[in-house]
Amino acid sequence: MSNYTEEINRRRTFAIISHPDAGKTTLTEKFLLYGGAINLAGSVKGKATARHAVSDWMEIEKERGISVTSSVLQFEYDGYCINILDTPGHQDFSEDTYRTLMAADSAVMVIDASKGVEAQTRKLFKVCGMRGIPIFTFINKMDRDANDTFELLDDIEKELGIATCPVNWPIGSGKGFKGVYDREKKCVIAYSDTEKGTREGTATEIPVQDEAHLREIIGDEAADKLLEEIELLDGASAEFDLQEVRAGQLTPVCFGSALTNFGVEIFLKHFLNMTTTPLPRMSDMGLIEPTEQEFSAFVFKIQANMNKAHRDRIAFMRICSGRFDANMEVRHVQGDKVMRLSQPQQIMADERKILSEAYAGDIIGVFDPGIFSIGDTLCMPKAKFRYEGIPTFAPEHFARVRQVDTMKRKQFVKGIEQIAQEGAIQIFQEYNTGLEEIIVGVVGVLQFDVLKYRLENEYNVEIRLENLPYEHIRWIANKEEIDLAKLSGTSDMKKVKDMKGNPLLLFVNSWSIGMTLDRNPGLELQEFSKN
Ligand code: G4P
Repeated sequence: MSNYTEEINRRRTFAIISHPDAGKTTLTEKFLLYGGAINLAGSVKGKATARHAVSDWMEIEKERGISVTSSVLQFEYDGYCINILDTPGHQDFSEDTYRTLMAADSAVMVIDASKGVEAQTRKLFKVCGMRGIPIFTFINKMDRDANDTFELLDDIEKELGIATCPVNWPIGSGKGFKGVYDREKKCVIAYSDTEKGTREGTATEIPVQDEAHLREIIGDEAADKLLEEIELLDGASAEFDLQEVRAGQLTPVCFGSALTNFGVEIFLKHFLNMTTTPLPRMSDMGLIEPTEQEFSAFVFKIQANMNKAHRDRIAFMRICSGRFDANMEVRHVQGDKVMRLSQPQQIMADERKILSEAYAGDIIGVFDPGIFSIGDTLCMPKAKFRYEGIPTFAPEHFARVRQVDTMKRKQFVKGIEQIAQEGAIQIFQEYNTGLEEIIVGVVGVLQFDVLKYRLENEYNVEIRLENLPYEHIRWIANKEEIDLAKLSGTSDMKKVKDMKGNPLLLFVNSWSIGMTLDRNPGLELQEFSKN
């Protein structure tokens, strides 16, 4: 055991996921409020003001009024040191969101009570499921008319395939929202919307045994319904089992209203109680325990030009074990170089703080002179192991890209390769040709605009994009066993390779995928690549 064990054990690192507009930003803001990181909710990431100020590193964001960057927020609460990985809300940037989830140990899922599970929630949940990390659900906007509570839980169970366990239970919604019933304490916390910009703490708690008082506060009708529902609930809902929560099979559910600041602190407290200390990570040497090894980290995100004036590139890494000291030398395993990390910093919503030390569970950003790639490992100079790669997710839109001025070939290739290295786009080549034919794949079409914009502005290269009809991409899982030249597919299938030389197939529709599998016995296809 080392002297940094205590520091590591008080860390909690989680991502917040939701469909856009469910209230992720508002909830994050309230968390920060409790941590004392901000004085008044709204001052850090209010949509109209700070959100733009934070991320105006790219004109495109301003033009479109969306947030394409994700940031990391750290705050202290109740002895815990909490890292929140905020993810961009826009669906076009979901690949970035996926990667961010790789750096988290658990996820908070925010659901709009009037909408239930939505498209983006489903996608993100799938990635959490791949990792088996614990998921905590906050059903938000109870101050507005909500769907039936049992139906909301049913929706989560059926749509996402995870059992639910309500921590508290709402009493009405919208104008009739009276508060929540805390199942553990067996008391009702009466709703008040007067806490908007302040900390909670003044809420009235009424034990349910004190029925007369309860009826007086929430009314007879609401009290009758509540008592009936409590009985139903105790009989029907899944037994709480911490092991299942930690395995990502059971999600504790809290109801509240982030905007009016109701139910947020209760949720945070329960969440911190149930969530884990930084989890071990798999490497080619086996599992690396956070407190048993000296410093190690992996890069999960690269972001270029966060600060326009400096044209810089920041590599975000998750520290997986030990303690990081800004003065120490580390090994970049993939580059096989020992170095000092330059300008290690914590990227807050609207500022960067240069840091001198950090611990497993923390996320740091370092200046990247163009040497890091997504998934790279950093460790102590004497160590030499690699963390498991970060899966590359299947792009859903494809275009052929050509530079307008053929004299600018070099800049074009450099630019497109660097942008691909950051993971903003994926590039593919036709199987038998050189680099002259580049195919770009993106998860969301907006990334095509980002690519065009960045090549023009940062590399001075104008490009033309020609949309291709492909919608599905499959990596060949057993590439050693398959002779690509002999592979017989459908007429609309295209054989390409990725930057690392892995063979892939592009298809226009899912029918062609089935057909190709039928025609090539033994062929194994997969939707993501792990290296
Ligand atoms: P997101 O990050 O998940 O995209 O959502 P965000 O927090 O930005 O919230 C989306 C909208 O929902 C915002 O309104 C926000 O004020 C509202 N909202 C969030 N939580 C609650 C809640 O508990 N109750 C109610 N009634 N509304 C909530 P907006 O009008 O789009 O933005 P703004 O002008 O209020 O900032």
